[in-house]
Amino acid sequence: MSDAVPSGDDRRPRWYGRRHGHRLRKGRQDLVTGLLPKLRIVPPSDGGRLDLFGLFADPVAEIWLEVGFGAGEHLAAQARANPNVGLIGCEPFVNGVASLLARIRDDDLTNIRIFDDDARLLFDALPDAGFNRAFTLFSDPWPKKRHHRRRFISPQTLDSLARVLGDGAELRFASDQMGYVSWALRHVTGHRNFAWPARGPEDWRRRPGDGFETRYESKARAQGARCVYLSFRRRPR
Ligand SMILES: C[S@@+](CC[C@H](N)C(=O)[O-])C[C@H]1O[C@@H](n2cnc3c(N)ncnc32)[C@H](O)[C@@H]1O
Repeated sequence: MSDAVPSGDDRRPRWYGRRHGHRLRKGRQDLVTGLLPKLRIVPPSDGGRLDLFGLFADPVAEIWLEVGFGAGEHLAAQARANPNVGLIGCEPFVNGVASLLARIRDDDLTNIRIFDDDARLLFDALPDAGFNRAFTLFSDPWPKKRHHRRRFISPQTLDSLARVLGDGAELRFASDQMGYVSWALRHVTGHRNFAWPARGPEDWRRRPGDGFETRYESKARAQGARCVYLSFRRRPR
C-alpha cells in the first residue's frame, strides 16, 4: 500500500508539525531560493523510483537517510565525517532547512540532498533496499495519548523503512522521552523485519561512537534529561 496515499485516494498524510518559524534573514532566504533548488529531491512525476546514486555528482559508496534533521547539525556532521556516503535528509520546517543549507555552503558539502517535506511523501519514490542506514533522532514525541498516532514510528512507516533499507541496515532512533522510547521498542521489535541486537545498557545508554549531538539532544541534556539510543537492524530478506 502507498505511504503517501493511505486510503486509496489522493489525500496526503496529515502534517501536524511546523513548516515556518520566524521570518528568515535575507542571507538564509537567498539560500532557500538559490541553493535549495540545486539540492532538492523531487519524486518522479510518473510515479517511478529515484536513482539514488544518480542524485550525487561525486560517486558515493552508500546512501543514508535522516528523517527530521531539524537544523541539520547531525546530517552535516555525518556528511563531513563520511565523504564517501550520500546523505538524504527530510525536513519540512523551512527554517531548519535554511540552517542546513548554511552548513552545506560554509563547509562545501557535496554529499547531501534534501527533501523539504514530510518523509512519508518520499517513500514511494525510493527504491527497495536503497539505504544502508536511517536515522530518526529526537523526533516529535507527541506525549498525549490521543496524539500518539502522529509519531513518526508507526506500523506504516516501519513497513516503508523495511522496504527501503538493505539487509542488515541500521535504523537508529534516539529520544529523551521515555514514553516514545517504549513505543519505539514495542513497535520496531514487534515488526517482523527488524531486530534489536542490544546486549546490555551500554548499547542504549550512550550515543553510538559514530554519532553526533543534535540540537534537541543538547537541550535535553542541559535540562538533565537522560537520552536513549536504539540501534535496530533490518533483518535479512
Ligand atoms: C523535535 S525535532 C528534532 C530535530 C533534530 N532531529 C534534533 O534532534 O535536533 C523533530 C523534527 O522532525 C521533523 N519531522 C517530524 N516528522 C517528520 C516527517 N514525517 N518527515 C520529515 N521530518 C519530520 C520536524 O519538522 C522537526 O523538525
